[in-house]
Amino acid sequence: MPDSPLHLFPSTDELSVAVADAFCHCAADAIGQRGLFRVSLSGGSTPKKLYELLAKRDLDWDHIHWFWGDERNVPHDHADSNYRMVREALLNHLPAEQVHAYPVPVDPNDPAATARQYEATMKEAFAGDEFPQWDLALLGMGDDAHTASLFPGTKAIDEQGRWFVENHVEKFDAYRYTLTARAINSARQRWFLIAGANKQTALAQVWKADPERTEAGKIAATQVDQYPSQLIKSPTWFVTQDAIG
Ligand code: 6PG
Repeated sequence: MPDSPLHLFPSTDELSVAVADAFCHCAADAIGQRGLFRVSLSGGSTPKKLYELLAKRDLDWDHIHWFWGDERNVPHDHADSNYRMVREALLNHLPAEQVHAYPVPVDPNDPAATARQYEATMKEAFAGDEFPQWDLALLGMGDDAHTASLFPGTKAIDEQGRWFVENHVEKFDAYRYTLTARAINSARQRWFLIAGANKQTALAQVWKADPERTEAGKIAATQVDQYPSQLIKSPTWFVTQDAIG
């Protein structure tokens, strides 16, 4: 079991309701303390229900700034776009004038320029931060233990200086875009949302190895290259029972 907070749920629906409640509290706290709530969203299928639930809540939308922790190398209207998924599940249902969304400006023909441009947008939004101090980073985990688009064996895993990079993923023979581990760990809170029996093996591996850290605090390369979700420091885990087994 992890050494950071774990919340178990019988179903994705119940997990999503609990995360929606926690999200509302987190947003209200951030806005109350700092006047703004800046969140990095995860893509994939697990958080969709959460985003749909948030659309029905009463949040101070005008003081929430939405960013994406990772994106596919596709246009915004493509079925695989994380931005499209969030727009349809959540943003399209909010008062348009109160939506402050910063999607990845994907140019499928120029991944490097896309990543640099989005990194510049983040650096403007988080001016003065060494790494972006998100109020919250939402994360998923694939059945191969990837998170964001930090896939096993890919170059972005070792990136120490950049905030946001293009990352070629061999198994898809395609580029993805992702926050680097340091740009996720700089968040005030990091939440994993994990559901489904197909995540059992990966989750057990991520939790099993207690990655030894070098004096620089860097996790030993052997582990994280295979189980990139181990890169995330002290996350809060929101997990369905079937992902534990
Ligand atoms: C993406 C995600 C990715 C996702 C995992 C889990 O762009 O796909 O950001 O990291 O969180 O792949 O995806 P599911 O929630 O669909 O299992």
